Amino acid sequence: MKKLIGLKKNNVAVFISGTGSNLKNLIKFSKKKYFPININLIISDTKEAKGLEYSKKYKIKKKIVNFNNRNEAEKKILKTLIKKKIKFICLAGFMKILSANFIKRFDGMIINIHPSLLPKYKGLNTHERAIKNGDKMTGCTVHFVNKKLDSGIIILQKKVRINKADNPVTLAKKVLKEEHRLYPAAILKILN
Ligand code: GRF
Repeated sequence: MKKLIGLKKNNVAVFISGTGSNLKNLIKFSKKKYFPININLIISDTKEAKGLEYSKKYKIKKKIVNFNNRNEAEKKILKTLIKKKIKFICLAGFMKILSANFIKRFDGMIINIHPSLLPKYKGLNTHERAIKNGDKMTGCTVHFVNKKLDSGIIILQKKVRINKADNPVTLAKKVLKEEHRLYPAAILKILN
């Protein structure tokens, strides 16, 4: 109990590019007393990201940054992160690759969720590839971000069975459900 009273929450930015179901889930968890983060900022590389709707709904500042020039984009992001006193970054379906410089600046402070059992299936179309290869199991991974794509230290993983009837869509749905358990668990593991 004492621990809960004294809990100081970390200011977090979530980076998205799409639906934002992981963002929504993390916002939900961030409202819990015991959960060690506040989400103060949503960054998106596109105004089309559906997940941006949670900015208005939950009164969280959003910033849309065009990545045509990554250097400029990262400068803008950095400025906002400093202004909002962000201590930690969660990538959640963010489709741009951050530069080695940016990652170094936030060394050990950026994590990502990936829909495969890393180191298997780095990159895109993970479910298609797992099914095509006849895998019986896939899953999801939360890992620290380093300068190599989907290669940083693994924090937590969860396995998901692939059934004969599964296609990439049904599998994505099953894995996403587990992602919504895994991401908060990984945050608790490293920030508690
Ligand atoms: C998730 O499957 C995540 O693992 C991957 O992109 C998807 C994002 O989904 N990196 P959402 O936008 O959080 O709904």
